[in-house]
Amino acid sequence: MMIAAYVSSAATALALLCHVIAAAEEDVVVLNSDNDQNTICDVNPYVYRFDCHPEYYSSPSRCNNRGCCWRDTLSSSSSSINDDSINTIVNNDGKSSSKIGRPYCYFPVNYPSYKVTQWAETNYGYRAVLIKEASSPWPNDILNLTLYIWFQSQTVLHFKIVDSKNARYEVPIEMPKPPAVKPSTTDYSVEYFSSPFGLKVLRKSTGATLFNSIISTAPLIYADQFLQISTLLDSPWLYGLGENYGPLLIDATQYRKFTFWARDQIPIMHSNLYGAHPFYMNIEKSKEAHGVFFLNSNAMEVDVQPAPALTFRTIGGVLDFYIFTGPTLENVVQQYVQTIGIPAMPPFWGLGFHLCRWKYNNIDRLKTIIKRNKDIGIPYDVQWSDIDYMENEKLWTYDKVNYNGLPQLIDQLHKDTMKYIIILDPGISDKYPGRYPPYDRGVQQNVFIRNYTGHILQGQVWPGPTVYPDFTHPNATSWWLKDAEDFHKVLPYDGLWIDMNEPSNFVSGSSVGCTMNNLDRPPFVPAISGDGTLEFKTLCGSARQHVSTHYNLHNMYGLHEAMATHEVLLKIMKKRSLSVSRSTFPSHGKYGQHWTGDVRATWTDLYYSIPGLLNFQMFGIPFVGADVCGFSGNSNEELCIRWTQLGAFYPFMRNHNDGDSIDQDPGAWGTSAQKIMKEAIELRYSLLPFMYTQFYLNQLDGSPVIRPLSFAFQADVETYKIDKQFLWGSSLLISPILERGKFNLTAYFPSGGWYDVFNHFKLTSVGRYYYLNTPLNKINLHLREGNIIPWQQSAVTTAKSRKNAINLMAGLDTKQAATGQLFWDDGDSLDTIGKKLYTLIKFTASRGTLYGKVQLKGYRPVDELRLGSIAILGVDRKPTTLLLNNKTKEFQWRDDVNEIFITNANVTLLEEFTTVWI
Ligand code: NOJ
Repeated sequence: MMIAAYVSSAATALALLCHVIAAAEEDVVVLNSDNDQNTICDVNPYVYRFDCHPEYYSSPSRCNNRGCCWRDTLSSSSSSINDDSINTIVNNDGKSSSKIGRPYCYFPVNYPSYKVTQWAETNYGYRAVLIKEASSPWPNDILNLTLYIWFQSQTVLHFKIVDSKNARYEVPIEMPKPPAVKPSTTDYSVEYFSSPFGLKVLRKSTGATLFNSIISTAPLIYADQFLQISTLLDSPWLYGLGENYGPLLIDATQYRKFTFWARDQIPIMHSNLYGAHPFYMNIEKSKEAHGVFFLNSNAMEVDVQPAPALTFRTIGGVLDFYIFTGPTLENVVQQYVQTIGIPAMPPFWGLGFHLCRWKYNNIDRLKTIIKRNKDIGIPYDVQWSDIDYMENEKLWTYDKVNYNGLPQLIDQLHKDTMKYIIILDPGISDKYPGRYPPYDRGVQQNVFIRNYTGHILQGQVWPGPTVYPDFTHPNATSWWLKDAEDFHKVLPYDGLWIDMNEPSNFVSGSSVGCTMNNLDRPPFVPAISGDGTLEFKTLCGSARQHVSTHYNLHNMYGLHEAMATHEVLLKIMKKRSLSVSRSTFPSHGKYGQHWTGDVRATWTDLYYSIPGLLNFQMFGIPFVGADVCGFSGNSNEELCIRWTQLGAFYPFMRNHNDGDSIDQDPGAWGTSAQKIMKEAIELRYSLLPFMYTQFYLNQLDGSPVIRPLSFAFQADVETYKIDKQFLWGSSLLISPILERGKFNLTAYFPSGGWYDVFNHFKLTSVGRYYYLNTPLNKINLHLREGNIIPWQQSAVTTAKSRKNAINLMAGLDTKQAATGQLFWDDGDSLDTIGKKLYTLIKFTASRGTLYGKVQLKGYRPVDELRLGSIAILGVDRKPTTLLLNNKTKEFQWRDDVNEIFITNANVTLLEEFTTVWI
């Protein structure tokens, strides 16, 4: 552990500071005298200018009032350009703008900030006292702070800066408190700079920057409703900062602003969307990776700038950070997910194909659509109902006229081994007092959010005027349970879809507006989309919830609803289920799943669905999907085909669209499209044993289920930006077509051997792009050499496909070796892993043998787990004999691809088996 504690005069401190920064980047800040406005403003290169006026409409005078520097050109002299400044993006609502680009108003070098007056070692790390002498221009500046640093583990550092005198709101989620470890055992070291205060966390082995707020031009600001801290990044390669819409790689050679405020917002770029995940990963120059999680639930923004650096700016809570040292991207995700919570294991049926749309409008139409898809043999596990099943869009009701016979239809689905999921919105109608028990009981039990005056806050959603449950209230879960239980007796649903839980509100704030107090009109509002207020399309910040104000808890509304819903489902089902939520927050994966909301039926949205889903792997919500064929606007046959082919590789595959668009279920299209879609979904079903095993691995350590290529090939810089291809586990490469009228693709193949899963030809790549012919009925799918994947013949539901034999496809590497595994349990019991009620089989191929070893035999199905076909690809020579469990077994040999194929091994997988070829 290295501590550099420089307590020195301001002048020496500045000199040292310049030195510290200069050590990270050449020629950062040149100072002649700290009194001269021109020189203290002479921050060059300009990429080290940190925004001092992040609000819209900065101007020289406003900037000056803040004691900051104004430059509207790259020259060093100040200028007096007028108010309407710079680099704005107008959002699609035309109202708001989000400022990006080089700030014209930026901090000078010696801006008043904190100094360290005490620094003490503790048995968990360090504790320091930070004092500021003069207030900053932000109201209610907090002058006395305490910094805690915990060495949580070898790979996780936790630090928090709090108000020394008054307790402040902190995010109410459970975080682990592992025993502290000795500094000598950590991968990181900590340094600090005393005046102005800055903290630096380095990777011991390489000196790479994991966090560095020692930046002379980016002071720490800690006011009641404006907290800001900046960090230098080790490189411009960034991932994370969600929920966002756009490419996977955030390029910190550019300016970007990310905003975090849960919003019912069609996914567009530069906008706050449904969920908030202030977590990023940075691949270092040395190609190792680390992650930083900012545990804060208030409205916030993150500025990325090409220093490269990043600024967190939030309007409440405390500064609470976790740093994960990786060093692989995968390790970072594991460390993050283990910190926020391992996701819930989905039921096997959840991996099947789901079908939904808004406005089937009546049961006949619903039946027709179910039938037409079943008639053409689409593998199909789950039917969903959107809000039109309800009576006047009231929760826990169904429309007994238009949906007369719905309970019987559900019974039939169940007989056909299918499942059924219904939508729930949080808004409860208050139109029928005395006649609508969910509302009446909610009032009695005091579970609704109240406004500033103490009255129940009324907003408006589908049923008209609505009130909003406060899921942080101690009575809320039992209140939610009562209706869920009663309704389950009427409509025996198998899972719940929790929508509109940002929460969405069709009138901003409430039906009577909001107050003008500091929660509704805070001194600073991050650059969120809308009309610039927090309450836009949601509730007033001043609204009261049991645990805190809505101002503090807003970003967690979806999480709190998911927590209650998860508990309710456990009580009702007593087995695994799904609760698929639109709004999410860190730790959400423990309680539920996610879909990416109202994506458009466009080729662009088809593409961005991939980075969207990859992001959620990093955020610990691996069970995620985008609406297949697009949600809004009319899809078309080609788009829907390509989307179904890609969707077959989403962890969660649901075809869903909005009420006014044309039908887009597979059965709605022409026969050749139906056939292609059916093949794509069949392919998915056949690979589910492999996918399910990925979910098992996720349970063990939080590993992603699907991955960007960079996760498996971190040494290969070319992979960092690739987000049009991805991997299942780390062994199946999916290279979809994402453009209209395209029937070929140049796809990247990282160095090594890749077997085409369909024709079995091997492509040996040196790490470059290859041309793939991809007619409309083709999906590019390659097995990475060295891997064995278990698969099954598909069937019309997973309940049926699960009974088919397990087949193996082994792609041998250059050493004639490969490995793989299969996790199998009953598919929906709770905690089969903890209770060891599962079977785990490891497969190994090595120089002329392929064997399976049962690691655990905790699940012994009577009619499952027979070994079917075995394909061994890339065998070095044609064998003369093949023995299966010491008996000669017939096999086929393909000379063109050097493949051994055994049609039906027909042995149990519950015992060890061995194949030897001579
Ligand atoms: C918004 C959801 O995002 C969408 O999927 C749903 O169809 C509509 N609400 C109607 O419930």
